[in-house]
Amino acid sequence: MQRFNDPAPMRELLREWRRERQRIAFVPTMGNLHEGHISLVEKARGLADRVVASVFVNPTQFGPSEDYAAYPRTLERDAGFLSAAGCDVLFTPTIESMYPYGETAAWVDVPSLSGILCGAFRPGHFRGVATVVTRLFNHVAPDVAVFGEKDYQQLLLIRRMTRDLGFPIEIVGAPTARDADGLAMSSRNQYLSAEQRAIAGTIHRVLRAVADVVVAGGDATPSIETGLATLRTAGFRPDYLEVRSAESLQPPDAGERELVVLTAAWLGRARLIDNLRFTKP
Ligand code: PAF
Repeated sequence: MQRFNDPAPMRELLREWRRERQRIAFVPTMGNLHEGHISLVEKARGLADRVVASVFVNPTQFGPSEDYAAYPRTLERDAGFLSAAGCDVLFTPTIESMYPYGETAAWVDVPSLSGILCGAFRPGHFRGVATVVTRLFNHVAPDVAVFGEKDYQQLLLIRRMTRDLGFPIEIVGAPTARDADGLAMSSRNQYLSAEQRAIAGTIHRVLRAVADVVVAGGDATPSIETGLATLRTAGFRPDYLEVRSAESLQPPDAGERELVVLTAAWLGRARLIDNLRFTKP
């Protein structure tokens, strides 16, 4: 695996691969990798001849009350995982190379998706994500990029941004990797105490229960109330629990069948997010 901090020589290598008609897949990350990330790399391997991963802790997607400085940085461990997973290039840009004109020089935003659900609780977060992913896409110019379905709102936002800005990049969602009790794998799980970890699987059970009610023809509203109560009783502080259109993330129309139930809930100092897609018969 070749490693680059500087985009220029990496771009040169990728140009060479493109000239040889090799297909390039890209997996952007903020590091602190776990099995979920590795499953993204494995998915990418099956879609292209070469896989590029990036590790960049992006300051512009952290809010003022979110601890950018304390975000775990485990680069050598991450590099070992990526290399073992068959990644060809690891791109670890510096802040200066990603934001050479300052962090607020120009922004990319997808207003229809950036202010709802998680965006309502993390103002500016998705604008930071869209901006950094645009910059990464410009450096890597992949044929395909893989994002986890765990961050469903992020996946839809990147898809829409890619379409609207005309990037010739296919955006592929990869299924959420889960522990045995259903807890979605996440870097944030490491903030859970043993006691909190023991109840964290509740979040997946609540999503399943809401989806089951709607699939059985029931009304989502009471099942959401029950789900919120279950989360609170277990010790969570939920930000939201909602059923939305899987395509637009807006409240679904009566006839809409492709749905997703999404939640974000605090457990101690960890803000856990998860979702479940389902089809109404
Ligand atoms: O999902 C993430 O890890 C980040 O939001 C991303 C897409 C790498 C942008 O910084």
